[in-house]
Amino acid sequence: MHLTLRQLKVFEAVARHLSFRRAAEELHLSQPAVSMQIKQLESNVELPLFDHVGKKVFLTEAGHEMFHCSRAIAGLLDEADEVIEQLKGGRRGKLALSVASTVNYFVPALLGTFCRRFPDITISLDVTNRETLLRQLADNEADLVIMGQPPAGDDLEAGAFMENPLVIIAPPDHPLAGKQGVPMMRLQDETFLVRERGSGTRGATERFFSQHGITLNTGMEISNNEAIKQSVQAGLGLGLLSRDTLEMELALNKLVVLDVEGFPIVRHWYVMHRRVKRLSPVAQAFKQFLLEKANTLLHPDLSGVSREGKMTAGRE
Ligand code: PGA
Repeated sequence: MHLTLRQLKVFEAVARHLSFRRAAEELHLSQPAVSMQIKQLESNVELPLFDHVGKKVFLTEAGHEMFHCSRAIAGLLDEADEVIEQLKGGRRGKLALSVASTVNYFVPALLGTFCRRFPDITISLDVTNRETLLRQLADNEADLVIMGQPPAGDDLEAGAFMENPLVIIAPPDHPLAGKQGVPMMRLQDETFLVRERGSGTRGATERFFSQHGITLNTGMEISNNEAIKQSVQAGLGLGLLSRDTLEMELALNKLVVLDVEGFPIVRHWYVMHRRVKRLSPVAQAFKQFLLEKANTLLHPDLSGVSREGKMTAGRE
């Protein structure tokens, strides 16, 4: 059986109205054009679909069957229309998001708000280290990546959406706690618990010390922000972490931020993807959401002042 969607559409209208004239009016066609479509359809299915008794039109048995199917097909086409519209608006679909481990502290709150706005999307979240993030970008495994420092090169599009201040933390009973304007050279006398190689926090720490000619005395190397915080609390050394990891400990006064000259080191959080990647509507919507809303949502007290994000092609 060879039939066209147009024939089905015309048939559905005639069968619904049981009138060629009303179907023609609805479809903005002439009555002969409607009759022609129905004739072609009947010749395609090789059975009459309508009986004409006087001026009245009735469906034949084949017509009833065809009407049933054409309604189902019309419903599916409407559904397809709706899905495509929703996809265009970013309200449906999948998002593969990969983030650096420190991002784990704030990205769930953002996803919570985003998913409330777009409840029909499916998100996979991979929390991993910088090397893996870079490989995922290169292999096109992630739609979007969030991390602290875009690598050099111009094949990535990176947008900074929020400041990422790095601070020095100590237990509340540390001798430098509460002191103002501690000279940075004083840091040489301290032991630092550092993140693993490949961590953005570790890289920024080493750059800061080397740029200022300060010796970095590393104690334990710890591959996890939580373990660093616990170890600092236990008096094993100082830590240098993103302030985004510290909300709870600072509120509970389990850790304090030292007031050291040159701190905080202000970095930024970036959302990035390969320049050549064609973002899905969902990925595009989430990227926009980060660039426009993340800062205000996470720091309502600071929005528009110091942590405001903006699109940039630059590198740290
Ligand atoms: P992390 O931080 O890799 O130290 O967790 C993220 C980053 O700065 O890229």
